[in-house]
Amino acid sequence: MKKAVLLVFLVTATIISISFTRSFEGEEPVFIPASEQRSGDSAKGYEYLVYGDYIKSGVPYGYYMMLNGKDKANVLNRTGKNANVPPGFTVITAFNGVEVVSPNCLQCHGEMFDGKFYVGLGNTSLDFSELSKQDNFKNNAALKVMQTISPKQYEAAYPMIRAFNTVYPLMETEVRGVNTADRLAALLVAHRDPYTLKWTDTPILKIPDEVIPTDVPAWWLLKKKNAMFYNGFGRGDFAQFMMLSNILTVSDVSEAKEVSSKFGDVVAYIKSIQPPKYPYVVDEKLAASGEVLFNKNCSGCHGTYGDKSSYPNLLIPISIIQTDSALLKANHQNPQFIDWFNKSWFAQRKNPAQLVPSNGYVAPPLDGVWITAPYLHNGSVPTIEAVLNSKARPTYWQRDFDHPEYDYENIGWKFETLAQPKPKKTYNTTLHGYGNHGHNFGDHLTNEERKAVIEYLKTL
Ligand code: HEC
Ligand code: HEC
Repeated sequence: MKKAVLLVFLVTATIISISFTRSFEGEEPVFIPASEQRSGDSAKGYEYLVYGDYIKSGVPYGYYMMLNGKDKANVLNRTGKNANVPPGFTVITAFNGVEVVSPNCLQCHGEMFDGKFYVGLGNTSLDFSELSKQDNFKNNAALKVMQTISPKQYEAAYPMIRAFNTVYPLMETEVRGVNTADRLAALLVAHRDPYTLKWTDTPILKIPDEVIPTDVPAWWLLKKKNAMFYNGFGRGDFAQFMMLSNILTVSDVSEAKEVSSKFGDVVAYIKSIQPPKYPYVVDEKLAASGEVLFNKNCSGCHGTYGDKSSYPNLLIPISIIQTDSALLKANHQNPQFIDWFNKSWFAQRKNPAQLVPSNGYVAPPLDGVWITAPYLHNGSVPTIEAVLNSKARPTYWQRDFDHPEYDYENIGWKFETLAQPKPKKTYNTTLHGYGNHGHNFGDHLTNEERKAVIEYLKTL
């Protein structure tokens, strides 16, 4: 009996070691195991997301109103002073008692789409392309006046001013519509002591030159995932990665602890979000034939949907997926950020958050994929049709941000193809990190078959 157990153990150990060796060689999809997560109250989590003080510094309310005026839309139907500011901002009481307007998660994780605001939809119209040109806080006349006439208000704004002045010039993108939150996090930790979280003006880590763009994943996908982020390197306690946003202006560890204690509720809320339903009529017959094709060609990586849904949680090695590798390579080229996090206050829990650099990208769940264009981890492909037909992918393309128009046939943004890129205006897929290659799994399908698959994807 004992021998049998030992044999089973040996065989299992061998299988595990083989699958690990293979993953390092980049040949086979790698299963991502689940890890223990905090539980919480989703209603409280939502309340905290849109009213909470997880960023405890900001522009004093009076100054904010003077500069921006009242937001009349109040798309979140918030009450009190929060009714007067856009969804990406929250009116809170700063660490020193002054009422300020601080940025919140919905800056990047919420967006208007066809006249409706969706919490959890990645914001793909934010503009990081001219950050270094912007009159940021350095020369802002109103702030100069504030510094002299109301020092307490300036004190409330100072941690935010300091952070943005430090990071803005270093996180500029080549085009509007892509995000550099990863870079933001790296730049901020470079100015923080890993144990006390105290700010230092001179960076303590080497900061690489390259700025790698990403898209923003939809929040409703998280409930299925065993790892966070496009390259699946966020393992362990998800709540702790989310509250890392607090590092923008955090004063000390006791503040971080207090904020962290609320994030079990935030995780519960994010897991409760359902994907938006496709708003137009779906051709049921076509979608049914698309489902057959999907289950044959795609579900091995992306899972199955409907009554008996399943999701395999696979990390697809770069040798198979072949999409732009800059994002995952950066983790290996810059271990200083990984080391900082994994030894920092953020990783000091019984069930810690850990960054585990990977060699591929997570095959994401495709729920609500109809609304999340552009596609791939760097937002390099404007439509699903082009994801499934690599020859149809534009090298230089542009979308109209002032009058955004959705293409409900090919599913994605209507775009213009250019012969030559215009700097800062055109998505240029020849730039480092902006590549649109790889994921060729739809190329062998006929146009009719692709249409059927797209019809099916509308129903997810
Ligand atoms: C400056 C923009 C920005 C802000 C602010 C921001 N995020 Fe994110 N978030 C991103 C981007 C970009 C990613 C994807 C990064 C990657 O995978 O490389 C991301 C990833 C995530 C993910 C992982 C999703 C997945 O499926 O892997 C979660 C969850 C998340 N953010 C929650 C939050 C919460 C909660 C807040 C506020 C406390 C927040 N984020 C603030 C931009 C932002
Ligand atoms: C071998 C695994 C694998 C197969 C097979 C596969 N995919 Fe993917 N798919 C991925 C991975 C990994 C990504 C993310 C790649 C990236 O962002 O760099 C992805 C991304 C996508 C995206 C973009 C999602 C987004 O939000 O950006 C769509 C749409 C998609 N796949 C559809 C399909 C369809 C339809 C099929 C079948 C014809 C298919 N995939 C086959 C692994 C796979």
